[in-house]
Amino acid sequence: MIHIEQVTKSFKDVSALSNVSFDVPRDQVAAIVGPNGAGKTTLFRLLSTLSTPDSGYAVMCDHNTSIAPQKVRAITGAVFTEPALYDRLTPKETLNYFGMLYGLGGPSLRKRIDELIEQLELGEFCSRLNGVLSRGMKQRVAIARAVLHEPSVLLLDEPTTGLDFHSADNMLRFLSEYRHGRCILFATHNFQEVSLLCNRLLVLGKGRLILDRELSEDSVGAEGVRSMVLEAIRGIDS
Ligand SMILES: Nc1ncnc2c1ncn2[C@@H]1O[C@H](COP(=O)(O)OP(=O)(O)O)[C@@H](O)[C@H]1O
Ligand SMILES: [Mg+2]
Repeated sequence: MIHIEQVTKSFKDVSALSNVSFDVPRDQVAAIVGPNGAGKTTLFRLLSTLSTPDSGYAVMCDHNTSIAPQKVRAITGAVFTEPALYDRLTPKETLNYFGMLYGLGGPSLRKRIDELIEQLELGEFCSRLNGVLSRGMKQRVAIARAVLHEPSVLLLDEPTTGLDFHSADNMLRFLSEYRHGRCILFATHNFQEVSLLCNRLLVLGKGRLILDRELSEDSVGAEGVRSMVLEAIRGIDS
């Protein structure tokens, strides 16, 4: 569903991504792991059509991100580290507003919003203003907004960073259901989350893809993921 071919992106003298290629098929949750500055956010910005590669290309569900950005956006949902919500709307108003932007409306939009309020446990605060919510609450609202139109591809750039246990756990449980028939790219620094949710591990280091490994059902656990990541990163530093 995601096909990335020899993608390169530089900012002046900084090579943020160099010759990155990989595919993510349906039903896969791929962890994107790597130190700060590895190129994770640059990759997410390219895939969510906020920027374009210098060379190479990315295709999402048969649509090239540079040639057909609108089509890509229609099948993609994205959540970034900072939950960017309008402070003066409530979560419910936010979901209604974005639902209409996606061309949804009427009883089917109401039903979808009620479903997400239940699954992401937004009920308690869905009529408060976004501006007064905790980071974890906001980030759950951002996930709900990203999946309103049931996108086939979900791009999550460190969505759980700085979240309390309850919010992170709720988000992980939601994603483990949402994944079916879809694909998810999930950047995180939390190896426990990788071992619980992901069946693929992609490690970026200095803009290069330095490890690409399937994680089997008999999970290697957080410690196993940690040692794979550290070994890959040691490889580029030596
Ligand atoms: N808009 C930009 N202008 C200049 N340099 C940038 C820009 N965006 C990212 N970079 C640089 O590209 C590299 C990769 O950054 P980024 O993709 O944000 O990494 P990560 O998300 O893995 O921490 C870093 O060296 C960063 O400083
Ligand atoms: Mg980043």
